[in-house]
Amino acid sequence: MNKDSVATSRRLTNVIIVDLRHRAAEAGFWYSLPFFTYRPILRLKPSQPQLWQSTKSEMYEDISKYYDLIHQGLRDDIVFVIKLATSVGDPILELGCGTGRLILPLARAGHEITGLDNSAAMLEVARHHIEAERAKVRQRIRLISGDMTSFQLEERYGLIVIGHNTLMHLTRQQVESCLYCARHHLKPTGQLMLDVDNPVMMADPSDDEFLVLERTAVESATGNNIVQMSSSWVDQQAQTRHITWIFDSSPRDGGSIRRTVVNTDFHYLFAHQLEMIFDSCGLVLKDIFGDYDASPYSEDCPRMLMVVGLS
Ligand SMILES: C[S@@+](CC[C@H](N)C(=O)[O-])C[C@H]1O[C@@H](n2cnc3c(N)ncnc32)[C@H](O)[C@@H]1O
Repeated sequence: MNKDSVATSRRLTNVIIVDLRHRAAEAGFWYSLPFFTYRPILRLKPSQPQLWQSTKSEMYEDISKYYDLIHQGLRDDIVFVIKLATSVGDPILELGCGTGRLILPLARAGHEITGLDNSAAMLEVARHHIEAERAKVRQRIRLISGDMTSFQLEERYGLIVIGHNTLMHLTRQQVESCLYCARHHLKPTGQLMLDVDNPVMMADPSDDEFLVLERTAVESATGNNIVQMSSSWVDQQAQTRHITWIFDSSPRDGGSIRRTVVNTDFHYLFAHQLEMIFDSCGLVLKDIFGDYDASPYSEDCPRMLMVVGLS
């Protein structure tokens, strides 16, 4: 999920939400306009957070076809990772590489990179992209089907990347296992980079349970209009945000809308909690940033980027 666009969308429609909340409450409804308006107007009751059928464990199998489309505007992290890779050195390992959104530009920039992921559908999209590259680029990339919480590879890496929000798929215990494995795959001078939404924002319940328009896009292969919406609520005690994503695909010339609904949990850890895990794994925090422009981390910045080395 692109938190920035969610935040922007929420801000733009804030007035509408307040007004509709008031009117809907007066009328005794939980929502007051049909879904096709695609405004964040629907408030889900906490007791019924899932309105539609969900497919949690298979999420990426269901949404791999939309992944690149909905992340096409996300470029700044690529620039950040390429800069880091250039200063740290090859080879690179990306855990949770998905469709190869980071791997491909890194390989094009001359880096040797291995991508590991446990979703067959995401890896299939990545393979398809790699096949379209020049032989020189293809030769720099290796894909592995595996679990980032338990892996053993022969090579040692100059840089290990856990890119855009991937770490949040893991529970605290899984994060510990993942970082322990990662630590044993680093060269002595190697670095690990983590990129997650700012946990302070993740923990903020103020916009919970609204249906939010995340983005619209046109699928180039079909010409279909794709609308992505989401609703989420936070369990602060468990440090988990429960998210429902909705993708509606509608034919350009009219016809039935095809809806895909997936649920997932994003687990967030605060900086000091991650530092404790680093310590227990023999890792140490070298740098922390609040965005891809390397600005300082603070409570209200959009991201939390950590660069970690061996202690
Ligand atoms: C948010 S996507 C990020 C993909 C890519 N890194 C990017 O930045 O576009 C998270 C990826 O992590 C993968 N993933 C989640 N849990 C995993 C696990 N335990 N082992 C390996 N991959 C995992 C998912 O299949 C998915 O491709």
